[in-house]
Amino acid sequence: MREYPSDRVDMRSDTVTQPTAAMRKVMEAAEVGDDVLGDDSTVQALQNRLADMLGKEAALFVPSGTMSNAVAIRAHTSPGDEIITETTSHIYQYEGGGYAALSGCSIALVPATRGIMNPEDVASAIRKAEGSLAHYPDGSLVCVENTANRGGGTCYPQETLDAIAKIAHDNDCAAHIDGARLFNAVIATGVDAARMVRDYDSISICLSKGLGAPVGSVLVGSSDFIARAHRWRKMFGGGMRQAGIIAAGGLYAIENHIERLADDHARARRLAEAINAMDGFTVDLDSVQTNMVYVDGDLGAQQIMAGLAEHGVDVLDVGPTAVRAVVHLHITDEDIDRVIAAFAAL
Ligand SMILES: Cc1ncc(COP(=O)(O)O)c(C=O)c1O
Repeated sequence: MREYPSDRVDMRSDTVTQPTAAMRKVMEAAEVGDDVLGDDSTVQALQNRLADMLGKEAALFVPSGTMSNAVAIRAHTSPGDEIITETTSHIYQYEGGGYAALSGCSIALVPATRGIMNPEDVASAIRKAEGSLAHYPDGSLVCVENTANRGGGTCYPQETLDAIAKIAHDNDCAAHIDGARLFNAVIATGVDAARMVRDYDSISICLSKGLGAPVGSVLVGSSDFIARAHRWRKMFGGGMRQAGIIAAGGLYAIENHIERLADDHARARRLAEAINAMDGFTVDLDSVQTNMVYVDGDLGAQQIMAGLAEHGVDVLDVGPTAVRAVVHLHITDEDIDRVIAAFAAL
């Protein structure tokens, strides 16, 4: 589906998508109310739909994935607590240190292979004040990112997800999934979404990434948790009034753009294999499990980006020699051919 207002092939991220004509139509016609007063039926429909899909009691529409994680961390922890998450996770790397500023938490970082933590490493990262002469902070929340963006868009094996949630709960910690791209993991693994998140206390879903909606994320969990999250959303300034107009885009995306993620994954695979076969470029093919392709190149990231840009292809530099190309709603088979040709011409 091209439907993109440019001749360029923009693969910097799956956040660059534009609402399709069909999605815009649904948004334009959306019934709205004042969601801060609790009467926007479209927001409620979106929240209920995602809570149902994930097998949880309730959900909360928020403006961004960053706010969704921030609200979740704040609702699960108290100042002086510690959160436990992976070294390259979005929560640690790209959310402005929100866990510290907004929740007063320190962070215990867990190493990983391709972004996937192993349960033993999570267990050894959890510290408790009790039994430490009050030297340690209280580890009270374990955060898992699925798919793991900097791991290459990798998916957690279900047994690993289950084991990490058990370790969290055995140690009196809550368990949260940053599922910005959870549905990519659902499609790639074939595991039902509710089963995938069964043992987790909260899940953040982004509508504005692979799903192709323009704005918004949804935080999902128990009624009790969502009631606390609602209060923090208010304090963080995330209450939105006639938000149904954007929630409608999210609802449309959930109905129409989940199954098609398989096409993105197949295109990412084809791109990865073609680039990896070229001299001077390497792709860790085992990490290409969903819609992302991380490429390492002898030329260096800046030169790769500049060279591709001359061919109308945009990617993101993610290290001195590495760039990332992300397949999304608007990327067609012909675009993939064009990107392969652009790499070959470098
Ligand atoms: C894994 C992950 N979590 C959270 C976010 C934050 O989402 P937002 O950009 O909507 O704040 C992103 C954004 O790219 C992400 O990749």
